[in-house]
Amino acid sequence: MATAALQAIRDSAPAVLPSLLLCDFGDLKGEVAELSAAGARVLHLDVMDGNFVPNLTYGMPIVEGLRRHTALPLDVHLMISDPLAYAKPMVDAGADMLTFHVEAVRDPVETAGKLKDLGVGVGIAFNPDTPLEPCREAMALVDMALVMSVEAGFGGQAFNPIALEKLRSLRQDYPDLLLEIDGGIDVDTISLARAAGCDLFVVGSAIFRKDSYLAAIADLNAGIQAAAHSDSTLGLQREDHS
Ligand code: DX5
Ligand code: ZN
Repeated sequence: MATAALQAIRDSAPAVLPSLLLCDFGDLKGEVAELSAAGARVLHLDVMDGNFVPNLTYGMPIVEGLRRHTALPLDVHLMISDPLAYAKPMVDAGADMLTFHVEAVRDPVETAGKLKDLGVGVGIAFNPDTPLEPCREAMALVDMALVMSVEAGFGGQAFNPIALEKLRSLRQDYPDLLLEIDGGIDVDTISLARAAGCDLFVVGSAIFRKDSYLAAIADLNAGIQAAAHSDSTLGLQREDHS
């Protein structure tokens, strides 16, 4: 059964999810208030352990701190070698969706099942070179598939179009699965991803390197709408736009 937060994430689609990787960590409360006022309905948190990826970011204290200051659903992207070791503490800290990388685990079915048992939304992430095919069984257990359009680890990288093929294939095979894309999303690539059937669009640079979050999110939403008007192969909300 879907938690209220998972339902809120589904209801937000199609949506732009700001990735807090590039925000001002000295003013997290202010950043969240500004993003919320700019129309963000879900926040994306990039947790990196310096092992699964060469970058190191943050863990439970930041998730917990954010939880105190916002009711927005927290979509936590675990770029860590042992997702199960930190899953329960992340849920206790306030995570609403936990996404693990398939490259990090031995048995994605087991990992997905154990995460589900925690009562949290569960996502499965694929780096650009990782094939979808071996994960069909796990896909039936999860709420979301995260298609990486850059190699996980750093913001500001160039969009890899291989993600579009993966989105199209997932949308065709799993019509009800939430699909998320992460990496190199801007006003142009967001339209391509939407046309490929994506529901949730993680954005770092194209929000945080702009002067106004409000204008940046409005431009990205216009990119989503542009696809809605030009292509009928859409994601979960396709009935709403027909
Ligand atoms: C990459 C992270 C992304 C990243 C997106 O490993 O998962 O969330 O911050 O940043 P941009 O939009 O700059 O590619
Ligand atoms: Zn991410």
